[in-house]
Amino acid sequence: MTRLFLSPPWLGGDEQQLVANAIASNWIAPLGPHVDAFEHELAERVDMAHAAALSSGTAALHLALQILGVQRDDEVLVPSLTFMGGASPVTFVGARPVFIDSERASWNIDPDLISEELESASMSGKAPKAAIVTDLYGQAADLDRILAICDRHGVPVLSDTAEALGATYNGRHAGKGSRAAVFSFNGNKIITTSGGGMLASDDGALIARARFLSQQARDPAPHYEHSEIGYNYRMSNLLAALGRAQLATLDERVRRRRAIFARYQQLLGDIPGLEFMPEAPWGQCTRWLSIVLITPSQFGCDREAVRLALEGQNIESRPVWKPMHMQPVFKGARVRGGAVAEDLFARGLCLPSGTGMTEADIQRVAEIVQSCNRKV
Ligand SMILES: Cc1ncc(COP(=O)(O)O)c(C=O)c1O
Repeated sequence: MTRLFLSPPWLGGDEQQLVANAIASNWIAPLGPHVDAFEHELAERVDMAHAAALSSGTAALHLALQILGVQRDDEVLVPSLTFMGGASPVTFVGARPVFIDSERASWNIDPDLISEELESASMSGKAPKAAIVTDLYGQAADLDRILAICDRHGVPVLSDTAEALGATYNGRHAGKGSRAAVFSFNGNKIITTSGGGMLASDDGALIARARFLSQQARDPAPHYEHSEIGYNYRMSNLLAALGRAQLATLDERVRRRRAIFARYQQLLGDIPGLEFMPEAPWGQCTRWLSIVLITPSQFGCDREAVRLALEGQNIESRPVWKPMHMQPVFKGARVRGGAVAEDLFARGLCLPSGTGMTEADIQRVAEIVQSCNRKV
């Protein structure tokens, strides 16, 4: 039986035509008309005034931190429950992450714990230099509350919206309202350029600076002149062509991912010891991934047993992100709370959620999950 992947790329429109156009025009470089157009179209879709197309979401976060002036020995607040690419850039600029636990409502960074951390930091006289707010698994964090708290302490907020393109928050796109938002077009995301990212913001100077740093910080001159160190982080025109075609079908993709989630809920919703990732009241989650929590004492086995049962039928599933404060590489890092993220990791399983899944695929997954429950 062909392997069913967690979130494989899905071609939904004009990919071949636009990439062929990029090749035919000979714009096979990290600049070109598709790069400019992709930036405009993405910025318009998320309602932010400016965007810079980059080689990855990780690169976008790195540049954003550097542009905010985060440097050696600074502290940056980061949700513990995230993917490594949403945390490691803090170390690229020599700063230290302070990990913050999740709230139950959205699984995102807990605003009350941010408040506690900032109160205690202000008493010790050293505020963090920035806070990264991740919109996890297609669901927006409670950004307005977080902005109110961070504004009081003068801490700038960056949105890591890598997993949540298409999500809404209080009637606007997820991430809008923070200093800048990071998007990822990695192969597993809701739209992909195979690898790529974007930094978007209403601050034109910030995005101009990101574009400058992403192209080796080349000063304006006919020869190659450099007054500071930059990076090779620009997106290629070929990949931007792919991204434009994918972006044009974003709404359809969100509808499809939500429909897959709803179908899993219909098929599995009544099983004791199995619950679904909640949708917070402040917006629409894209359901980038459909995630269940399995409580072994009620369900009859743990999420690893379910994962292995799926794997036995050539179906990929994955545990929820392992919290950063549990990662060997961050041993010794400071963490506030942690029990919620640990619980979500212990019980959470991401089920196949690809936009191209068929009804038969969904039923196949659901039947195997159900069969694990019958083993009680
Ligand atoms: C939450 C989060 N942040 C950052 C990244 C980094 O993005 P990229 O893989 O494009 O570097 C990803 C995903 O890949 C992610 O899931």
